[in-house]
Amino acid sequence: MALLDARSVSVAYGGLQALRAVDVAVEAHQIVGLLGPNGSGKTTLFNVLSGLRPPTSGDVWLGGERITRLPAWAIARRGIGRTFQIPQPFPRLRVRDNVAVGVTFRRRDPLRTGADRMREVERLLATVGLTDKADTPARELSLGERKRLELAVALSTRPILLLLDELASGLSPRGREEVIRFYARLRERGLTIFAIEHSFAVLAEVADRVLVLDQGAVIADGAPRDVFQSPRLARAYLGDEEGE
Ligand SMILES: Nc1ncnc2c1ncn2[C@@H]1O[C@H](COP(=O)(O)OP(=O)(O)O)[C@@H](O)[C@H]1O
Ligand SMILES: [Mg+2]
Repeated sequence: MALLDARSVSVAYGGLQALRAVDVAVEAHQIVGLLGPNGSGKTTLFNVLSGLRPPTSGDVWLGGERITRLPAWAIARRGIGRTFQIPQPFPRLRVRDNVAVGVTFRRRDPLRTGADRMREVERLLATVGLTDKADTPARELSLGERKRLELAVALSTRPILLLLDELASGLSPRGREEVIRFYARLRERGLTIFAIEHSFAVLAEVADRVLVLDQGAVIADGAPRDVFQSPRLARAYLGDEEGE
């Protein structure tokens, strides 16, 4: 059985149908990409999966347990971590302290001593390549660095499944290369990843499978190669500038 299984998930914002009976299965240790034009419902799907928005109908299972409509903290505790499209660290706190907040509030497998927590903070900073920015206030970071900080904070809760919202968007080619290496490193650690990315190049490199949303419905689901050649994908992106 898949680690994450969402069945027939629908979300309506008043009259607007943001998700229409979406089915998603993410197998353990896979990296699944989520593509779709602006407004197709990607972030809404992540909000349902992470407990920030209850679905209008449908169900979500994690590791065989039903998590539909659990509050966000309860879902985080069961092992879903996430980042946001617009990273929002505590701006005045140093990078190190932003990560420490996450580590301190970690409920899955908590760390008992201050020394253990400090070691974990250093380890997470090294994982995302922010060791040399540890004492910098978060507000002074570049976009790429803020995204890496958010990734460290998401990892600090010790997730099983990570939902990543546009980690590679808005970065320089070098920043993207770095993000591709992060995906590889996270996979080596046994994490399962469901990632919204607009870059076909990034997804072709890292994703085992790609799922495409258009106007709230899944229109393609398969190997990146096949999905990128799908005429339905081309149609969905027609007139949209974000596809590459
Ligand atoms: N809180 C909200 N209230 C009303 N409409 C929303 C809300 N959030 C998103 N929407 C609408 O739902 C649709 C899907 O949005 P979203 O999930 O953010 O798409 P994506 O992440 O793919 O760009 C869009 O039409 C958007 O305008
Ligand atoms: Mg979005």
